Amino acid sequence: MSLEVVRSRKRMAVMLYAATALSLVLAYGLGVIEQRFFTSAVSVVALSAGLLAFLRVESFLRDYRRNLKEHQRSAKQTKQVRVELNHVRRKLDALESVERKRHAEQLGAVEKSTARLEREFGLVDRKFRAVERTVRDTYAQTEAFVDLRALISPRAPLPPLVSWAVSADALRPMIEWILRAEPKVIVECGSGSSSVWMGYVAERTGATIIALEHDPRYAEASRALVEAHGLSEVVDVRLAPLQEWRSGDETWQWYSLDALEDLTEIGLLFIDGPPGATGPLARYPALPLLLPRCADQVAIFLDDTGREQESAVSDRWAAEFPELIRSDHRRNKGLDVFVRSSA
Ligand SMILES: C[S@@+](CC[C@H](N)C(=O)[O-])C[C@H]1O[C@@H](n2cnc3c(N)ncnc32)[C@H](O)[C@@H]1O
Repeated sequence: MSLEVVRSRKRMAVMLYAATALSLVLAYGLGVIEQRFFTSAVSVVALSAGLLAFLRVESFLRDYRRNLKEHQRSAKQTKQVRVELNHVRRKLDALESVERKRHAEQLGAVEKSTARLEREFGLVDRKFRAVERTVRDTYAQTEAFVDLRALISPRAPLPPLVSWAVSADALRPMIEWILRAEPKVIVECGSGSSSVWMGYVAERTGATIIALEHDPRYAEASRALVEAHGLSEVVDVRLAPLQEWRSGDETWQWYSLDALEDLTEIGLLFIDGPPGATGPLARYPALPLLLPRCADQVAIFLDDTGREQESAVSDRWAAEFPELIRSDHRRNKGLDVFVRSSA
């Protein structure tokens, strides 16, 4: 019920009260004037009843007004609570968005450090594998070196089996072949440490080594080395300057063919030159040019097949010389061995 309605009802109640009081006075007055007491008394009772009813209505209206005020006050409080609730909700929303942002930032940081850790673990893993390979290779080289060293009694300090020189684990199968097949002629393309190490074994089996060397400086150095070890009768370091060799449309820089003229019955061929810098597939000509000069029982050792160029040479030989059987000796620098299938 609206405030306007309440006010009009209050006005009406006041007017009723005044009218009743007036009627009461009039009724009583008229009754007395006209000497009709009974009528006057009834009128008074009736009017009193009306007055009582009015008072009752008045009291009801007073209660109503009080309730209304109460209601208005609680409506105001409700409104206030709602405002505060909205305020709290906005604060919560703001807090939630700050929290969400912080959470996203933390998640980003965690993802970043996880990726960094994974990268570092990958690096450590690669380094670990490299160290593992080195340790395994060092063991293989040491084992082969000790094995080979026990076979010879050097007369001078031995040249190294690292870097530019053949590695011990590649030298071992060649020396095994010399001891087992006892080839009379051994040819190596590229002189150096191998000339001396194989020279000691060749001395024992009665073989001759012809070491082809394209570089006069190294020919001289290798010769001096061979002499220092007292192997000049066994090892012939032969200077063979590089010359053009043509096959079909292809040309190579390879050892002078003059240096090959007297070579026959080769039982071991070690291909460790010329250097790759002389051109693509630099070692390829060895087989087309020297295989016709080999004995039936021959082993051809191609060093450094871990490298792309030497691996390609090996594949080409395998395709062009089907009478040879190839085996892959996974040495530290790679070593492929070819033998005749008939031998
Ligand atoms: C791959 S190396 C290997 C030579 C040889 N087969 C050996 O295992 O010692 C090939 C070339 O290295 C060169 N060479 C020889 N002695 C060398 C030395 N002491 N230091 C650097 N290079 C050398 C020569 O020109 C040789 O033809």
